[in-house]
Amino acid sequence: MIDFLGDWKRTSYCGELRAEHIGQEVVLMGWVAKRRDHGGLIFIDLRDRDGIAQVVFDPERSAGAHGKAESARNEYVLAIKGIVAARPEGTVNPKMKTGAVEINVTECKLLNPSKALPFTLDGFVDVNENIRLKYRYLDLRTQTLQSNMILRSKVAQVTRSYLTDNGFLEIETPFLTKSTPEGARDFLVPSRINKGNFYALPQSPQLFKQILMVAGMDRYFQIVRCFRDEDLRADRQPEFTQIDCEMSFIQREDIIRVMEGLMARIFFEAKGIEVQLPIQHMTYAEAIRRFGVDNPDLRFGLELVELSDIVKNSGFKVFADVTKGGGIVKGMNVKKGGAFSRKEIDDLTAFTAIYGAKGLAYVKITADGWQSPIAKFFTPEEIATMDKAFGSEEGDLLLFVADKPKVVNDSLGRLRNHLAAKMGLADPNEYRFVWITDFPLLEWDEEAGRWAAVHHPFTAPMDEDLEFVESDPGRCRAKAYDLVLNGNEIGGGSIRIHQEQVQSLMFKMLGLSAENARSKFGFLLDALEYGTPPHGGIAFGLDRLMMLITGSDSIRDVIAFPKTQKGACLMSEAPSEVDTIQLRELGIRLAKQQ
Ligand code: AMO
Ligand code: AMP
Repeated sequence: MIDFLGDWKRTSYCGELRAEHIGQEVVLMGWVAKRRDHGGLIFIDLRDRDGIAQVVFDPERSAGAHGKAESARNEYVLAIKGIVAARPEGTVNPKMKTGAVEINVTECKLLNPSKALPFTLDGFVDVNENIRLKYRYLDLRTQTLQSNMILRSKVAQVTRSYLTDNGFLEIETPFLTKSTPEGARDFLVPSRINKGNFYALPQSPQLFKQILMVAGMDRYFQIVRCFRDEDLRADRQPEFTQIDCEMSFIQREDIIRVMEGLMARIFFEAKGIEVQLPIQHMTYAEAIRRFGVDNPDLRFGLELVELSDIVKNSGFKVFADVTKGGGIVKGMNVKKGGAFSRKEIDDLTAFTAIYGAKGLAYVKITADGWQSPIAKFFTPEEIATMDKAFGSEEGDLLLFVADKPKVVNDSLGRLRNHLAAKMGLADPNEYRFVWITDFPLLEWDEEAGRWAAVHHPFTAPMDEDLEFVESDPGRCRAKAYDLVLNGNEIGGGSIRIHQEQVQSLMFKMLGLSAENARSKFGFLLDALEYGTPPHGGIAFGLDRLMMLITGSDSIRDVIAFPKTQKGACLMSEAPSEVDTIQLRELGIRLAKQQ
């Protein structure tokens, strides 16, 4: 028989009870996590958001309540009334927050039964993720996901309070809007009233937040959903959340100071970790030179070593030809890597091939010096110079890639992370932040055959590089910065272009005709002409930040209702077909499926 709450009011959460509550009468409500029937006594672990309490049903104390406990199964919803008691000697469980007490039940209400679950919630069994996503409401009952959601809520609340204290206004911007380019495809929403026209869901609130600065709002923030139709990876979702900020009358250093203060507050409140401020800065050029990537993980060494000058006149044709043809040669010294087997080195070679490397030359440092298929091509002087550059010692493994700079940096940069994971070089409890600054403004897009913005088209060039925007675009640096944590880009921002002429020039550099720029961004160009203050901002990826704070491997573990790699919500079964009537109203007819 199902009971109703009636006049019962919950007095405590399950996880709250301690020795100090002994003797009190409490009312608890929650789910049956586990039930143990000892013939006479029945023990139930009752669970709610806060934790687990052991509740005891004794037929002699209340036959009615005991009867209900007999019929209860896992995930049934119960309300119990009872007295908090000390656990008998020998049954205290120091691993549980509530392990010193149990509740002797006097009355019980069975609020709702549950079907047998498609998987257990104890976290001990590896369950196929698709099943977990289909029954997301069950998976969300597990302790890991509950604590992730609780921590995420806390981070959002700390963010609001910090930014509000620093003079930021929380302002909402539209979702039904025009395309904002952030490098992905748009999700489009057809307009019923304006047939044939579409809204785009925002890839970020970039243009609106800048226009809020034109509007004199001075400091804006929003914890906001962004939508990007791109190929998904482990740390990406088609809709994700940004902590989005913008400030007026401001320089890069001011934004950095306020925002690293936000990170310090978040890490202190959420993890009890004190972030050392100020956070270290590194230019983009230095990051690429030393680590091959613009999001370096600084928890370990394995730095890249530039060898082009040493090998350019050597007898190893591959290296000499590449350097003479405008390429470079770099390497890294894997300490203790001399023990790697041939198969392991082949695997590393295959890994670098993913990033375009045509080979991975290697040298083992032995007591007799270089042991390597390429040793014979170098003079003793060349070997000595390279050993010095690498700091090689017996037992080390030297790895080399020769190619175009992009291939060398990409492949060795990724290999560096791959090796660190393989060899356990990064301390999971260390949090190494770094600001990457002075990004290039533009990069040549081979496929499109034009220049593309490295950050986005609204980022300002450095004042001293402004004169080269047209004459030597590749040389221009941008007033852009990223915040990187343990090799992950957790935020990115810039000082913006606040002059209409510079913005128009930028659009021209990106290959947009004046007409096209007007039709896409006319409202921004107009606004820039009505007294725009110098301004800049940043956006942090809240989901990525939460992944790092909670130590999750997947971004899906910090989002309540995430999507799969194929962009599907397995619980609601979105995306799905729609009625032809709905399509007709929108003036849409589907092309025949091929
Ligand atoms: P950007 O495109 O660098 O900048 O995005 C800011 C941060 O958002 C996170 N992020 C994502 N997280 C999950 N899934 C995704 N698909 C995804 N894409 C991005 C990253 C990233 O650092 N408007 C600018 C910000 C600005 O200039 O103020 C912007 O959106 O952590
Ligand atoms: P090969 O002369 O092609 O047999 O190559 C000799 C060694 O150099 C092998 O270990 C190859 O993996 C390596 N190698 C070949 N091309 C490159 C390259 N572009 N960069 C680094 N190593 C290379």
